[in-house]
Amino acid sequence: MDAAISSVTDKAVRMLLKTVLLAVTARQGLNVVLISRTPEKLQAIAAEIEWTIGSSVKIIQADFTKDDIYEYIKEKLKDLEIGILVNNVGMLPNLLPRHFLNTPDDIQSLIHCNITSVVKMTQLILKHMESRRKGLILNISSGVALFPWPLYSTYSASKAFVCTFSKALQAEYKEKGIIIQVLTPYAVSTPMTKYLNTNMITKTADEFVKESLNYVTIGDETCGCLAHEILASILSVIPSWAFYSSVFQKMLLTRYMDYLKQNANIR
Ligand SMILES: NC(=O)c1ccc[n+]([C@@H]2O[C@H](COP(=O)([O-])OP(=O)(O)OC[C@H]3O[C@@H](n4cnc5c(N)ncnc54)[C@H](OP(=O)(O)O)[C@@H]3O)[C@@H](O)[C@H]2O)c1
Repeated sequence: MDAAISSVTDKAVRMLLKTVLLAVTARQGLNVVLISRTPEKLQAIAAEIEWTIGSSVKIIQADFTKDDIYEYIKEKLKDLEIGILVNNVGMLPNLLPRHFLNTPDDIQSLIHCNITSVVKMTQLILKHMESRRKGLILNISSGVALFPWPLYSTYSASKAFVCTFSKALQAEYKEKGIIIQVLTPYAVSTPMTKYLNTNMITKTADEFVKESLNYVTIGDETCGCLAHEILASILSVIPSWAFYSSVFQKMLLTRYMDYLKQNANIR
């Protein structure tokens, strides 16, 4: 049995290590496939996993902003029995809040990386899980997917797709013994968030992954940690007229922007 992970960060590595450890405990012999863009990073992480856990690691270099990579990935995965798929890859076009017209205009890359990757990787692997009547798919969405976030419009919308897709799919495949869970975290300190300073809300990758893995079997959607669940509950009671008002957007553009500039590694 193997596990495939799309993209590897500090966070993914820890998620991976813990996932592998859990799986190895449950069943000996789980190996790992890492799929990401930068070969040197892949090799370093593969070596770390092999050294730490002793699992064999296969690496596949692929750029998820492209849509012509899936035949290649399929070929590379051909003889493997994937029991766990983590769709982790994602890109945030703007860490600082920005109006749509002021964000990088490489929309196609964002769609391929955040949306196409989840659908195509699931398509490649789910059919084998279905025939074996078991499997786990973890799709990493975001807290900003839970309702539309102005000033992060494309990212928020792309992650909302991941939520909807995951939950619909879980309803379809639950009876077949397959767990599909979508994670909707808020802030985690990673390269994507320019290593935002940690606090009660902004978790280290390690903290987040450790806690989120406790919730794998309890529900088709989770923020992944209690602090983010509480934040989501607080945000959900803000009336939409207030949330979508120009005052709120101004706050995002001023106070939240200042907060990010002071607490993230932004030049
Ligand atoms: N950090 C947060 O606060 C947060 C909150 C909510 C949700 N999320 C979601 O959690 C997931 C992981 O986020 P993260 O913060 O760990 O992100 P990250 O720090 O930006 O790491 C992204 C990883 O994805 C890889 N990657 C990026 N673009 C790729 C591409 N086109 N093709 C292949 N690999 C690519 C990168 O590899 P290379 O370095 O080799 O390019 C990197 O290892 C994402 O889906 C993100 O949207 C993050």
